[in-house]
Amino acid sequence: MDPALTITLTVNGTQVTRSVPARQHLVDFLREDLGLTGAHLGCEHGVCGACTVRVDGDIVRGCLMLAVQAHGCRVETIEGLSDSKELARLQKAFHERNALQCGFCTPGMLLAAQDLVLRKKKVSREEIRSHISGNYCRCTGYQAIVDAIEEVLAQG
Ligand code: FES
Ligand code: FES
Repeated sequence: MDPALTITLTVNGTQVTRSVPARQHLVDFLREDLGLTGAHLGCEHGVCGACTVRVDGDIVRGCLMLAVQAHGCRVETIEGLSDSKELARLQKAFHERNALQCGFCTPGMLLAAQDLVLRKKKVSREEIRSHISGNYCRCTGYQAIVDAIEEVLAQG
């Protein structure tokens, strides 16, 4: 039987303490225990990027990290980053350029894109493609996504 462990972490600026199964993944904890369903489960193998969240400033695969590994960490999800308006420019650009269709990949894609925007360096379209290569989109063909990210990066 999976033993329960108590963890305390900060999620979107709020400290939470919960008892979690030792083998529960972070994305399951966020979705099932906290109701933060913006990070999706796709492959559950660390391949598709649908489960992307930010932990202590770095984007991670929520399906590869255990909830207990986030003990003491600062976790940010699409919900928190949307509410804080940190993603507002990217969300506007994605919307205006039709860079999403079903939207399943979009939360993870936005977090990956914002990771690039935060670096604030000039990048080529190839580098944008490379940066989001760990985030799969089955709908758009990526062109509009790269356009949207390129637009925001050009804004400086
Ligand atoms: S569900 Fe985590 S990378 Fe696909
Ligand atoms: S918009 Fe459907 S998977 Fe990307």
